[in-house]
Amino acid sequence: MTVQNAHLRLGVNIDHVATVRNARGGADPDPVRAALLVQNAGGDGITLHLREDRRHIRDADLDAVMAAVTLPVNLEMAATSEMSRIALSHRPHAVCIVPERREERTTEGGLNVLADEDRLRDFIAPLREARARVSLFIAPDEAQVEAAARAGAQVVELHVGAYAEHCAAREDAARDGELRKLFAAAALAQELGLEVHAGHGLNFANVGPIAAIPEVVELNIGHFLIGEALFVGLESAIREMRHQMNLARL
Ligand code: PXP
Repeated sequence: MTVQNAHLRLGVNIDHVATVRNARGGADPDPVRAALLVQNAGGDGITLHLREDRRHIRDADLDAVMAAVTLPVNLEMAATSEMSRIALSHRPHAVCIVPERREERTTEGGLNVLADEDRLRDFIAPLREARARVSLFIAPDEAQVEAAARAGAQVVELHVGAYAEHCAAREDAARDGELRKLFAAAALAQELGLEVHAGHGLNFANVGPIAAIPEVVELNIGHFLIGEALFVGLESAIREMRHQMNLARL
């Protein structure tokens, strides 16, 4: 099987089910129910971002989702000592380290691994000893890819947010420029022995070119799928996303 045709995994980020629940308090809609639907619909993993301010997913959600599903759980978190303790006690399949600022609405950029390499190396080592697959969420920048490899990550997740914004604004030249960076970063990452994931801002219209990057083995998609679920249901939204991903790999 060529890499191009290998199964491209779809991790579904269910944070925004909790966003809707928290808008009212109470228990509905339940992220565990969403996680079980992802599993039924053929999703390959559940992604949860436990933010420092717990604005969506809370500690109890992480416990409940991990207890309910057989799919691998990917815990997105900032590189803080609190999150390290939580990851080491919960032992999710994967940990994706992301930058986090309280005032941002979503994860706005990639980690500056280059500037924080020594601290990240120390942060990653115990997670790897606990057998987590450790991923760093970075911009498609070759210096960051090299720094991620030196820091001991096994995976890089390429931030495709800039690409998604150029798609939305119909800025074709800028979009193509971002795609070139993504292709180059993905090729370099694989050369350095890193597994390559991608995510942020993906939807039915823009997922194809990202799914077609041959080194990418996993996409993590959240906000669009949860929004689309309002209209067509979560399972149907996931099945359509899977279809779009498969089309890109024909
Ligand atoms: N991957 C990472 C590392 C993220 O931080 C996010 C957003 O939380 C996503 C993927 C999913 O992005 P979106 O919700 O825009 O699909």
